[in-house]
Amino acid sequence: MSFQNILFETKNKIAYLTLNRPDKLNALNWQTMQELQQALASVKDDPSVGGVILTGAGEKAFAAGADIGELAQQTPVSAKEFSLQSQEILRFVEHFPKPIIAAVNGFCLGGGSELALACHIRVASEKAKFGQPEVNLGIMCGNGGSQRLPRLIGKGRAIELLITGNMIDAAEAYRLGWVNHVTPPDQLIAKCEEILQTVFKKGPIAVKLTLEAVMHGMAMTLEEGVQLESNLFGMCFSTEDMKEGTKAFLEKRPANFQGK
Ligand code: COA
Repeated sequence: MSFQNILFETKNKIAYLTLNRPDKLNALNWQTMQELQQALASVKDDPSVGGVILTGAGEKAFAAGADIGELAQQTPVSAKEFSLQSQEILRFVEHFPKPIIAAVNGFCLGGGSELALACHIRVASEKAKFGQPEVNLGIMCGNGGSQRLPRLIGKGRAIELLITGNMIDAAEAYRLGWVNHVTPPDQLIAKCEEILQTVFKKGPIAVKLTLEAVMHGMAMTLEEGVQLESNLFGMCFSTEDMKEGTKAFLEKRPANFQGK
C-alpha cells in the first residue's frame, strides 16, 4: 500500500503513522484523512500489530488543522458532507480496537487537535501547542472538537478555549487534562512506546474489550454503560487469557497471554 501524505511502518508490534506534509504543518487535507483511515484499516485485524503511534513529520507540527485551502472552497452542502465524512473517520479512530496514542510533537490545532482528541491517549512534547482556532476563521469545529474537548477537560474550560481560539502550551494542556504526559521532544516517541509495551504484556482481549467499554460507554447513560461493562466482563470469562491470567497469578509467575 503506498501513500502520498502519510508515512506508515510497523515495528515491534507498533504501527507508526506519521502525517507527512511538513511544509503545510501537516494540515489535514481530505487525501490525508483518507490515507489515515486506509492505513489504520490495514492493521485493524492484523494480530502482529498491538497498537498505533500517530505523530506529525518535521519539528513544528502534529497537525495545524484541516487544510484551510480546501475549507475555503466549501459550500454549505459540501461543508456538511465534508464534516460528516471526517467525523466518520474520527469515529473509526476512536473505536479502533487497539490503543492509538497521539504523539503530539508541535502545533496541534483545529482538526489536528480533533484527531488527537479521538485517539485513546495523548502524549505531548514540551514544544507542543494546542488550540481550536476555528473561530479565527469565522467557522467552528466540524470534527468533533465541540463534543470531545468538553468531555475530556470539562465544559467550562473547553468553552473558553473553543470561543477564544486561544493557543495553550503543553504544560497548560497537561494541567487541563488534555494530555496524559509531557516529555522532552526527543523522548516523545519513547514514552509512547513505553506505554504500548506495558499494554502488550496484558491480556489482548481484555484490552480490546476495555477500549470498547470506555468508548461505547461514554455515549451511554451510566445505567446503560454499567450494563455494557457487565456483558463485556462476562465475555472475558470465555477466554483462554482469563484462565492463563488467573492461573499465572496463583502460580506466582508472569502470564503468557495468547489473545485467545
Ligand atoms: N491549512 C493549510 N495550510 C496551512 C495550515 C492549515 N491549517 N496551517 C499552516 N499551513 C501552511 C501555511 O499556509 C504555510 O504554507 P506556505 O509556506 O505555502 O505559505 C505553511 O503551512 C507554514 O505555515 P506558517 O503560517 O508560515 O507557519 P508559522 O510558524 O508562521 O505559523 C501557525 C504557524 C500554526 C500559527 C499558522 O500556520 C496557523 O495559524 N495555521 C492555521 C491554524 C488554524 O487555523 N487551524 C484550524 C483550521 S480549521
